[in-house]
Amino acid sequence: MTHTVVLVTGATSGIGRATALAFGRDGARLVCSGRNAAAGAALVSQLRELGAEAEFVAADVVHEEQVRQLVEHTVTRFGRLDVAVNSAGTEGTPGSIVDQTVESYAATFDANVLGTFLSMKHELRVMLEQKEGVVINLSSTMGSRGNAQNPMYVASKHAIEGLTKAAALDAARSNVRVNAVAPGPIETGMLDRIAGGAEKVAAVAASIPAGRIGTPEEVADAIVFLASARSRYITGQILAVNGGKTAM
Ligand SMILES: NC(=O)c1ccc[n+]([C@@H]2O[C@H](COP(=O)([O-])OP(=O)(O)OC[C@H]3O[C@@H](n4cnc5c(N)ncnc54)[C@H](O)[C@@H]3O)[C@@H](O)[C@H]2O)c1
Repeated sequence: MTHTVVLVTGATSGIGRATALAFGRDGARLVCSGRNAAAGAALVSQLRELGAEAEFVAADVVHEEQVRQLVEHTVTRFGRLDVAVNSAGTEGTPGSIVDQTVESYAATFDANVLGTFLSMKHELRVMLEQKEGVVINLSSTMGSRGNAQNPMYVASKHAIEGLTKAAALDAARSNVRVNAVAPGPIETGMLDRIAGGAEKVAAVAASIPAGRIGTPEEVADAIVFLASARSRYITGQILAVNGGKTAM
């Protein structure tokens, strides 16, 4: 992984942050992106302390021009783009489908589906030309399973799995791989917001075969694997990282 050029969206917190740090420890050169400049600056100084070359570029993934500039900046700064991790996303507005609105639909689909689409569009343009590269998207257990209380998130993650498979087929002959990880519940701000309280998080943990919630570092390790040559014949796949949840 040494000197690999890695772009991470949603890098200022949670899984994106843990992923940036995992690549940083492996000697990658990183562009970390997000909307929170202070958190981005803190991450970059932590990465530099690890000895990694790193920069923060602010971008909102729902705005194509910002995504285009983010990818362009990466290539201008480091000369290429080897790995892109699209971790920016929202949990949407939990609640029954009968309470969802045009606005809750649009907000969830914009951040999760439009954001992943625009990120892949610009990342893959570079990778297809280089004839080398790896994209890893963030799905969820809810990318292949239903959940009565989060229909927009469920639908958006199903869409991300579809985009992942379609893009993988498009890129397969160009030595470019596209996969997704599908985490179960992971200890991040998003889980706290979805579960809403320590008691509910404990109930979620008890429902997982491994008996605990996963860590962002455990998802980051799966992402680093999918970015590495050890997964060189894996493309168009969704790798579950969920303590056995979907084996039930
Ligand atoms: N935590 C979990 O239990 C869990 C489980 C399955 C999948 N995921 C997925 O993992 C990914 C990362 O989530 P997380 O758990 O680290 O939560 P998180 O909230 O810590 O991270 C998501 C990041 O994306 C950023 N973001 C949201 N909308 C954005 C936009 N329009 N432009 C740029 N950045 C934007 C947020 O500001 C945040 O920094 C998400 O796609 C999420 O759906 C999380």
